[in-house]
Amino acid sequence: MFNEHIRYTDGKLYCDSVMVDSIAAEIGTPVYIYSLSRALRNLRRIQTLFPEAHVHFSTKSNANLAVLSALIGAGAGIDAVSAGEIHKALLVGAQASDIVFAGVGKTREELEYAIRQRVGWINVENVRELDHINSIAAVHGRTQRVALRLNPDVTASTHPYIATGHSYAKFGLTAEVVRDILANQSKYPGIQIEGLHIHIGSQLHDTAATQRAVEIAQEIIAPFPTIKTLNIGGGLPVAYSPDEVVPAWDDFAAVLRPLLNGYQVILEPGRSIVADAGLLVCEALYVKKQAGTTILIVDASMAELIRPALYEAHHEIVPLVENQGEQHITQVVGPVCESSDLLGKDLLLPDLQPGERLAVLNAGAYGMVMASNYNQRLRPPEVVVREDGNTWMIARRRETWDDLTRTEMMTG
Ligand code: LLP
Repeated sequence: MFNEHIRYTDGKLYCDSVMVDSIAAEIGTPVYIYSLSRALRNLRRIQTLFPEAHVHFSTKSNANLAVLSALIGAGAGIDAVSAGEIHKALLVGAQASDIVFAGVGKTREELEYAIRQRVGWINVENVRELDHINSIAAVHGRTQRVALRLNPDVTASTHPYIATGHSYAKFGLTAEVVRDILANQSKYPGIQIEGLHIHIGSQLHDTAATQRAVEIAQEIIAPFPTIKTLNIGGGLPVAYSPDEVVPAWDDFAAVLRPLLNGYQVILEPGRSIVADAGLLVCEALYVKKQAGTTILIVDASMAELIRPALYEAHHEIVPLVENQGEQHITQVVGPVCESSDLLGKDLLLPDLQPGERLAVLNAGAYGMVMASNYNQRLRPPEVVVREDGNTWMIARRRETWDDLTRTEMMTG
């Protein structure tokens, strides 16, 4: 939704001091635009709310190099879930020691790479993974610091696709396995187990489940004083519509900080840092009035932003030029050949004409990173409005037809 960085001024949508339409007019649509000031402001707010914690930005939510570079420059560590994410973070100056490598299915090659790069932490989700790390570390004559990811068996209040802390989720180790590993640490001379990791889900709608998960983690590590670090994952929520009620980040801090006293704490926020810093700007192509509704066909689709199609996620969509006209129930859809290719369902929008531009709000997290070439669409460019608020740059260019075919071979 709107905030101090993304708002109307004199009837025009602005990203900081840059008129959004001026960017779209220059480089075309669809285009992602990010306010670096907003992302940095969100990072600083979380750092202030959790002063004892070290914040590792969850790269999976937005892996744009300019965004990563700005956040790393402001003191963020990195939460990476693939060797590719580690590679991108290192490229823009992340300290390897400030990277947490997580993931339910790390390959042996990825573990090799991470250990060779000397990442600070590996969050372990599988006993066999411990064996891999142990043997790789031995080859390199080192010990690797790890945290065990606990599946605390609590159910987070969020969309089922992004809840991860219940017992039948694929994530983490059961309490029993964690206890067993901790009791047998001497089996792993190449590993120092120094932390416990939990992440019960994203876009959390209550604080109680996280509180419970932290308490369970603490009970488990109580007999093991060498486990001093608690990594409590991500999950801080963002309101995607004016009527979505989510707990304030202060509420999470108020509940969790007293519990975390005496531990070293790691947080892995993604969405909360970048979601409301980003827009996806598109242009209306066609309008149809049928079946009692308005169907607005725009030039962005589920290929550029899959959240509405995948999770029935709601994003506010607003015209770049404020329009006080009468509002109608409108379906904002893309050109992709799927009925699920919907960016906005039953939105109240004024009548818009082909050629008018719109912005999908709160698109900075899990937007471009989940984009695809479905229907052989070209992935859009990413623009950042720099921290000065006045200048912007193309941080990733629009793909071309050459990009579409670059990795393919024709036989015969
Ligand atoms: N740490 C771990 C271990 C995670 O699995 C995640 C997100 C995070 C941190 C960051 O969570 P956040 O602060 O962003 O809530 N594509 C979905 C969200 C998937 C989240 C996956 N894990 C969406 O668009 O809503």
